[in-house]
Amino acid sequence: MTVTTAEQTHALAAALGEVLEGGDLLVLTGELGAGKTTFTQGLGEGLGVRAGIISPTFVLVRIHPNLADGPRPGGPDLVHVDAYRLDSSAEIDDLDLENTMDTAVTVVEWGRDRVEHLSDSRLEVDLHRAVGGEGPAPAAAGDVLDFDTDDDDEPRTIVFRGFGPRWAAAPHILDVTSPEKGN
Ligand SMILES: Nc1ncnc2c1ncn2[C@@H]1O[C@H](COP(=O)(O)OP(=O)(O)OP(=O)(O)O)[C@@H](O)[C@H]1O
Ligand SMILES: [Mg+2]
Repeated sequence: MTVTTAEQTHALAAALGEVLEGGDLLVLTGELGAGKTTFTQGLGEGLGVRAGIISPTFVLVRIHPNLADGPRPGGPDLVHVDAYRLDSSAEIDDLDLENTMDTAVTVVEWGRDRVEHLSDSRLEVDLHRAVGGEGPAPAAAGDVLDFDTDDDDEPRTIVFRGFGPRWAAAPHILDVTSPEKGN
């Protein structure tokens, strides 16, 4: 599906966050600035976990506890992982994600080919700048260079792919292509 603004990416993720369960593993893929963290912030809102989701820097794993006065009191926590600097599944194992895996929703930016062994089911979320998007207008001679163009809304293509029994029946808000069902 295609979203045209960061707010839409956030809202889509929030709707998904409302139906996620403890034990769910999400693997986010997309180039720098594609919107992985924006998506995760939306998930956090739908899950009703403590705010402050940011692009992880030196901290590779952040746990956002579910809020008693949020939309899903008693619901799952959010474990937010950035696997960008991790080269192998061995380094992933050092993070001890198994400890929280069963009760929390685990979201891994740059998780492709690194975290698949953690669970028998996973939801892959691919975010990309939509092909044919206009992108920032080229700077005309004499223009003040604007380095903030990243914040301008641009279309994104978001593809969901579910693997394993958990995603055999996709949440209705998603257009999940389930390989097992062959569609
Ligand atoms: N349709 C859109 N969906 C999501 N973000 C968008 C969209 N249009 C513009 N943006 C902007 O793109 C940026 C996405 O940044 P974000 O930190 O979410 O990306 P990221 O994939 O996590 O990057 P990184 O790999 O550096 O962690 C934000 O500044 C956001 O406002
Ligand atoms: Mg990020």
